[in-house]
Amino acid sequence: MSFLTVNEASYCYQGNEAVVDRVQWSIAQGEFHCLVGRSGCGKTTLLKIAAGLLQPTSGSIFIDDTQVVEPSDQVGFVFQAPTLLEWLPVTDNVLLPISLKRRVTAKDYTRAAELLELVGLGSFTKRHPQELSGGQQSRVAIARALIREPAFLMLDEPFAALDAITRAELQDDLLRLCEHQKTTVLFVTHDIAEAAYLGDFVTVMSQGELQQAIPIDLAKPRAPEIRYDSTFNALCLKIRKTMDGTA
Ligand SMILES: Nc1ncnc2c1ncn2[C@@H]1O[C@H](COP(=O)(O)OP(=O)(O)OP(=O)(O)O)[C@@H](O)[C@H]1O
Ligand SMILES: [Mg+2]
Repeated sequence: MSFLTVNEASYCYQGNEAVVDRVQWSIAQGEFHCLVGRSGCGKTTLLKIAAGLLQPTSGSIFIDDTQVVEPSDQVGFVFQAPTLLEWLPVTDNVLLPISLKRRVTAKDYTRAAELLELVGLGSFTKRHPQELSGGQQSRVAIARALIREPAFLMLDEPFAALDAITRAELQDDLLRLCEHQKTTVLFVTHDIAEAAYLGDFVTVMSQGELQQAIPIDLAKPRAPEIRYDSTFNALCLKIRKTMDGTA
């Protein structure tokens, strides 16, 4: 059964031509989907439509059979840049989605501390964002997106600015967290290997349109060594060829 349904959705900025073009997409609960494509092909726009941050020019979005017509409460969102509030310490940044809605309770503080521990920032809770590295800021943004335990997590190239080793660590952290909370995930990247490592499915987007989802039949939980084996590289090549239209 479909958890997210994107039904013939299109989006045009200010009367320009469609940057998301009659997209049909279905994601089942608990699945991890990656969306790859070249810069400017419409990934961020599609993600914002799916989260209810933008309304499609035509077509419709459903999460769990409810039409999405405003930013969905069921979705945690991680933007292309970490977008932390620099005047708030780490814990308060993580608690922001709650403090915007209601009074923060002792239970919320405990939950924030647990999440920060899980992303390896247990001893950084009182620091301010400018006292953190880029990778640490990305971890705070992920903890913030998970604080309300959303059923659905959407991430827009969250690791793009990081070095390869930090990025690989964060990929493993993310897989662990999402497995733990049974979160359904939509992850945008233009890194083919990242998509193949993380996703149960990889979908290629080009010029506003989606290609057929490519199933990734690799064992879970992922072992970091698979990045170097031939099955993994064959999958990366398949994704690349789909992007190039030569599959
Ligand atoms: N606010 C806007 N107004 C007008 N055009 C826009 C706006 N935002 C994006 N676009 C255009 O829409 C197209 C799709 O943009 P989008 O940000 O969805 O691409 P993307 O696939 O996420 O790219 P990237 O990989 O570089 O982040 C691009 O051609 C872009 O120039
Ligand atoms: Mg983008």
